[in-house]
Amino acid sequence: MIIANWKMNGTKQSVATWIEVVSNNINKKNLNPCIFCPPSCYLELARRLIDENGYSIEIGSQIVNHSSGNESLTGGINTTMLKDLSIEHVLIGHSEQRNFLKESNNIIIKKIEKALDDDLSVIYCIGEDIDAKNKDETHLFLSKQLDVLGQVQSTHEDKLKSITVAYEPIWAIGSGLNADKDYIEKTHEFIKQYINDHLGWSHLDINPAVLYGGSVNLVNCEEIISSNNVDGLLIGGASLNSETFSKIYNLS
Ligand code: PGA
Repeated sequence: MIIANWKMNGTKQSVATWIEVVSNNINKKNLNPCIFCPPSCYLELARRLIDENGYSIEIGSQIVNHSSGNESLTGGINTTMLKDLSIEHVLIGHSEQRNFLKESNNIIIKKIEKALDDDLSVIYCIGEDIDAKNKDETHLFLSKQLDVLGQVQSTHEDKLKSITVAYEPIWAIGSGLNADKDYIEKTHEFIKQYINDHLGWSHLDINPAVLYGGSVNLVNCEEIISSNNVDGLLIGGASLNSETFSKIYNLS
């Protein structure tokens, strides 16, 4: 999975151009899903352009709210609406939402449960802050975020297979300072081992893919994607440029 996370960027025109350029430039033999996460106001446009042209790009929403739809939530978007638009994926737990929108673990659990119920694939984002890194407490920090997954109750256990983990150290997001290969490999190994040992999923044969995100660019992408236990990339800033993103996709 190679994901373009546009955050709060773009226009109708840039969405249309990006979809066309990326579709025409990515290597069709590469079976890695190519996932576009535009701002929500452009989801429908992206869906229409991709469907009309038969492009092989999948779509993810950057946001979902946990309201069931019966509650009143001004500005809210629920999983049923995303399903109605045939959106395939949703990012949940991104550090910017945890920090700026005060997204708690309880809310994250409800969002994941609702998304799985509505057959969306969940990209669950985790990552330590600089304080935890400096105190050598990265694993402790991540284990608390991973425990959230262990609390997710799914109506069908099989749906838990639709969860992917995206490891994004907060200090690396948008900073130009990606984690180095050794750090990424050790952390991804820890994440996979922790999921296997502590979430009670071992009898279910669930081994989520673990993506890396945080200042991925054209220069560092090859080293990162070839690192042990890295199964894909979540790309912010460098995904805005369609040519750059296509090149990163093709190198992955
Ligand atoms: P970045 O963002 O690539 O700009 O660091 C990644 C993300 O937040 O998903």
